[in-house]
Amino acid sequence: MRILPALSLLAVAAAAGAWWLTAPQPLPAGTFDGITGDPARGALTFTAAGCASCHMAPAAEGEAQLVLAGGQRFPSPFGTFVAPNISPSAQGIGGWSVADLGNALMRGVSPEGAHYYPALPYASYAKMQPQDVADIHAYMQTLPPSDTASAPHELGFPFTIRRSIGLWKALYLDDTWVIDGDLTPEEQRGREIAEALAHCGECHTPRDALGGMDRTRWLAGAPNPSGEGTIPNITPAKLTWSQGEIVTYLTTGFTPEFDSVGGHMAHVVANMAGLPDSDRKAVAAYLAKVPPVE
Ligand code: HEC
Ligand code: HEC
Repeated sequence: MRILPALSLLAVAAAAGAWWLTAPQPLPAGTFDGITGDPARGALTFTAAGCASCHMAPAAEGEAQLVLAGGQRFPSPFGTFVAPNISPSAQGIGGWSVADLGNALMRGVSPEGAHYYPALPYASYAKMQPQDVADIHAYMQTLPPSDTASAPHELGFPFTIRRSIGLWKALYLDDTWVIDGDLTPEEQRGREIAEALAHCGECHTPRDALGGMDRTRWLAGAPNPSGEGTIPNITPAKLTWSQGEIVTYLTTGFTPEFDSVGGHMAHVVANMAGLPDSDRKAVAAYLAKVPPVE
């Protein structure tokens, strides 16, 4: 008879623990104190991070890609996510502070204190520097506003419960570098682009059953979440191109066999092509440091 109250106490404690574990954790106050964003640098960081690739209107071309109206659909095993409007307007993120944007990108937390889905690749952006966020914020103010309303995601229960994303974050939100140790400044720059900004791992790293990136098989290739085929292994075990060939691919989209890039990688190449050559060389230098995985 005594066991019942004890059990229910345990259940309450477990629920309280889970509630505490799943609580959104914004950045510490003062993270952006003394930091001023630079819109010119922000334009490059924004390009490297591929924000427009997801947040432009479906099939937008040229200058229209900078109208961040949202509406592109991203199918996943949990349902379909629809990218929201993040232009500087009332329908978008007009009026957001740098800290609001920092919490969204680096912690996956909304201004109202709710969790975002990791379809916004904050598992990678968590490794950004506050200065990167401030620069992106300054640049985004200069982009055209759009009045398109954001569409709701199309998810099945229980994935509609944002609070439960806290458990996912407790397991997988990790802002430490995957490739660590002695890196040259060039390799460190490559790591900043590949691991934090351009989020190469989000597509090229296999995920476990709960959808977290498997850091032990970093960049070793994965099934394509949004369709057929697989995303290639780009560890040195399979990507045997010279660094020059990798730079050419990231600049022109041509492989050494003169195939041209397709799928989502075409957006990544378009973004990489907009960066200085030194950044593409840095990414190639970083890829050479990744442990080979068969
Ligand atoms: C892989 C696609 C993808 C990329 C890349 C991406 N986002 Fe998003 N973003 C999303 C999705 C999907 C959501 C919706 C998340 C949710 O509702 O939980 C989102 C949500 C947001 C939000 C919250 C908007 C709101 O109304 O609350 C902001 C702000 C944002 N993204 C900014 C950015 C910025 C800035 C970048 C580049 C640094 C970026 N995103 C890159 C897919 C992406
Ligand atoms: C949005 C998903 C996505 C992201 C992010 C992404 N890739 Fe890719 N990548 C792909 C897909 C899909 C392919 C296959 C392209 C094709 O079929 O033409 C690919 C192909 C490649 C290839 C060619 C490999 C081969 O053997 O043909 C290289 C190299 C590459 N990616 C490097 C990178 C690097 C470096 C980054 C980060 C800067 C990156 N990718 C980010 C999806 C992605």
